[in-house]
Amino acid sequence: MANNAFGIDLGTNNIKIYSKNDDKITVEKNMIAIENKNTLFAYGDSAFEMYEKAPGNIHISYPLSNGVIADIQNMETLVKYFISDLQRGSAKPADFYIAVPTDVTEVEKRAFYDLVKDAGVKAKKIMVVEKAVADGLGMDIDVKNSQGVIVVNVGFETTEISILSLGGIVLSRLIKVGGAKFDEAIRAAVRREFSLIIGGKTAESVKIALSELEQDNCGAVVYGRDIVTGLPVEREIPTKLVVESLEEHFNTIVDNVKVILERTPPELAADIYRNGIYLTGGASQVSHLADRINLGTGLKVNVSEYPLTSVALGLSKIINEDNYKTVAYAIEGMSK
Ligand SMILES: Nc1ncnc2c1ncn2[C@@H]1O[C@H](COP(=O)(O)OP(=O)(O)OP(=O)(O)O)[C@@H](O)[C@H]1O
Ligand SMILES: [Mg+2]
Repeated sequence: MANNAFGIDLGTNNIKIYSKNDDKITVEKNMIAIENKNTLFAYGDSAFEMYEKAPGNIHISYPLSNGVIADIQNMETLVKYFISDLQRGSAKPADFYIAVPTDVTEVEKRAFYDLVKDAGVKAKKIMVVEKAVADGLGMDIDVKNSQGVIVVNVGFETTEISILSLGGIVLSRLIKVGGAKFDEAIRAAVRREFSLIIGGKTAESVKIALSELEQDNCGAVVYGRDIVTGLPVEREIPTKLVVESLEEHFNTIVDNVKVILERTPPELAADIYRNGIYLTGGASQVSHLADRINLGTGLKVNVSEYPLTSVALGLSKIINEDNYKTVAYAIEGMSK
């Protein structure tokens, strides 16, 4: 039987794993819950479920920070458990394709490779793919033949803006803005205007519901703690306040897209103009962002059909279609 292969998009918020055997993408929170400093208590979605609710002896954390591995040991544990679950408990040899951000140091890039090598997952072959290239393939762009494509991936802690040409990366910038900053901005605005403290999960659900609330012309009903009385209360937050609170971060994204466009070699301009901007990543779905990018750059914005999983979808194409294999590479100086 042919080997299994996995494609991993290690996001700060969500880990997405494509399994060739199942031909399926699994999405789980990239989170770990450790009890009494050393015992694994929960991982993935079940760890996230306990987040902000767990007692003091259970420590819940994200092993990634700003798109790079911050806690190697816990990240290895998570990868080992996720892969083992997908293999139904028995570790079999498999090939691994791992997506990495471009605008990070070589050491940070290599850490993704080392992670898979050391996680105890019986990796036969480990190949690396630039995230933006996988994103492009996942959005059905002919990345190998296009001479100028701009991909903007708005994730949890980062937004990656990249220019692709002929299957490679010409320019890429990773900025520290994403869904988490949007949630923080909503929390800060609600605190300022309503003297109300809301939790991170509440802010996130307001953000996700925003476009629907705007369509229905109603505010967001939230529960939180009143700063003055200290008591739990319910309030209705107008969507206008939420939209205004996000404006600053939208501007940062638009400004950075413009900087990248300004630095793009002019020979690529024709294709970029023709193709427009490809927008993806979970947080790219937030209401008004695509319009703001369109307005700020004058370029058409193509929104991804699968914003959360476009990188993993691209990895699945690389795994299944020989034609795309050339965009994946081995890290220099490492044996398989
Ligand atoms: N429908 C939606 N509307 C707005 N935001 C959303 C929606 N669905 C998910 N998000 C946000 O998307 C973010 C997660 O996206 P994603 O999984 O792409 O990030 P990540 O890959 O884990 O992070 P990073 O790329 O920064 O490492 C979260 O902030 C989440 O709140
Ligand atoms: Mg991501």
